[in-house]
Order: sequence, then structure tokens, then C-alpha cells
Amino acid sequence: MEPAEADAIFERVSHLVTEPEWELARPIIEEIRQLKRERGATILAHNYQHPLIFHGVADLHGSSLGLARQAADSDADVIVMCGVHFMAETAKLINPDATVLLPDFDAGCSLADSITAEDVQRLRDEHPGVPIVTYVNTSAGVKAASDVCCTSSNALQIVEALNTDRVLMIPDQHLADYVDARTGAEVLTWQGDCVVHQEFRTSDIEALRADYPDIQVIAHPECTREVQESADAIGSTSQLIDWVDTHRPERVAMITECTMSDNVASRFPEVEFTQPCSLCPYMRKITLEKIRDCLREMDGKVDIDPSVAAGARNSVEKMLELSP
Ligand code: 13P
Ligand code: SF4
Repeated sequence: MEPAEADAIFERVSHLVTEPEWELARPIIEEIRQLKRERGATILAHNYQHPLIFHGVADLHGSSLGLARQAADSDADVIVMCGVHFMAETAKLINPDATVLLPDFDAGCSLADSITAEDVQRLRDEHPGVPIVTYVNTSAGVKAASDVCCTSSNALQIVEALNTDRVLMIPDQHLADYVDARTGAEVLTWQGDCVVHQEFRTSDIEALRADYPDIQVIAHPECTREVQESADAIGSTSQLIDWVDTHRPERVAMITECTMSDNVASRFPEVEFTQPCSLCPYMRKITLEKIRDCLREMDGKVDIDPSVAAGARNSVEKMLELSP
């Protein structure tokens, strides 16, 4: 890594990472960059990944939808997914020829854990003819048992495209609330939620507004309905970043996993980010050391059970068709 390149990375993370921490991380970042070249690998990172991963080694970053599109468009031999298991599985579904590596298979998701393919079949039996729109935060088996996937970026677009009176939107009850409040469809759901976003309370937002009367509050749709109703805007991770880019508020609270504001703070130096912090324990499983090791050993390959791969791919591809 050229000294100027290293300096540029450190500048983007220096509000969070001390110089001794940077000196420890730097050789690992250099090794990952070298291994990437040797393996013909691309590193994709979700917006919640640690700043040293986001700024130091990722080739591309984004929301779940952005990462799925980037994986679909990639011609790399190897994709390393710095995110959670469902994101790696989605990448493998839509780019089956690539080797997809996940640096730690314990990087799960509370929403994905909340529902099984058998649950989806039961819902289908209980609600015959009602289309099942499944959040990408699920296993390939659950996707295969569903009609179409969505992400928080395109959930409204997918439900509107189905042009239906009733829809089952699973497993996130709060994303379902968000869609229910904004479409003409009756939205049935499942009692899943995200361990990170369910922690936020309206009292957090009231306290912020009391301390900073000019603050803009923007929230992810995995937050509860009450929190969504107290926010000035709602959107997926990439939509929240775009909102800051467009509005350039003096002060903003991003009510979502708090690493994201750390990652984008250097892009918006004039914006003050002030929010309660809730960290995703699954996203934190991915570390620089694990990225290096999986690239060194070509470990952590994602394989999808062939009995569900075609059905799951169908649900993801249908989403990409309805939301190009
Ligand atoms: P986005 O699709 O908005 O990036 O969200 C993914 C996620 O896991 C949010 O908790
Ligand atoms: Fe899953 Fe929530 Fe973590 Fe996103 S933040 S990966 S929804 S547990």
C-alpha cells in the first residue's frame, strides 16, 4: 500500500481509531489487499461493518440490496462478504459461479433465526392465495418457500408491484407495519424482529429533541411503529445515507446500527451525528483477522443446499426484476 493511500484510509477512520490501533491494523489491511489481488477477489461490505473494514479493505459497500446488485454484477472469481450469513447466501444465489466466502459463519441475524421454511408453508396453508413477500434477512430455505423477496430499500415497490389486496410480509413485523401504513394492501406478518432496532424507544428520540431542538431524526424501518412515527424520515441504510447527502442537516440522529454513522461521518464533515448506540453482535463477528484468514486459506465457502437453491434464486431474481 502506498503511504498516501494508507494516510487517506487513516484520515477516514481517525475519529474512531487511535494511532496505535491503526499501526496494529495496517499490516493486516496490507496483507488482505495483497491476498485480494492474488485470489482475484472482491470484498463487499455492509454499511454496518467496522470502519477499518469499510474504509480499509472493502471494494464496494452498501445496503442489503446494493450488495445483492453488486454481487450480481461482479465478475470476480471470489467474493468475500463482510456482512452476515443471509447476505453471503444471497450473493451466492445470484452469482453461483463465484466462490463466496463468509469470514465467520456465526455472523447470523435474529430475523433470519425467527422463521423456518416449515413456518412459511404453514402460513401458506392458513392463507391460501395470499402472496408471501419475504425479507432477504432469511435463510435460503425460507426464501425458497416464498414467492418473492424484498429488502428494506424496495419493500414498498415490491408490494405495490404485486397489486394485491392482502400480502404476507415476513418475518419482520416492523417492516410489515411500515408497508401497511403506506400501501393500500392489508399486510399480515410474523412476530420476528431485529435485536438491534427493537432496542430504540420513542423516549430516546424525545430526549434527543429536547437536547437538540434542530435535530433531524431518521430511522430504519426495522424500528418499532412508534419509533417510525416519531422520525422525520424512514429508510433502508442506503436511503438514510442518501437522505443526509440530500438534506445536509446540521445535526442528525440515524436510528439504526450506530457503526453506520461512524462510517459516513468523514463523508459529511459539516454534519453532526448524534444518536443512541446499538451494535449488531452478528455484524461484529467479522474482523480484519478473519477476512485475512479466509482469503489465505480460502475458507468459509458458502454452499447452498441444491434442494432449495433454485427456489430461493427464483425469489431473489423476482425481486431484482420488480425493483431493477
Ligand atoms: P439494509 O437492507 O437497510 O441495509 O438493512 C440490512 C439490515 O440488516 C438492517 O438491520
Ligand atoms: Fe439482523 Fe438486525 Fe443485525 Fe441487521 S442489525 S443483521 S437485521 S440482527
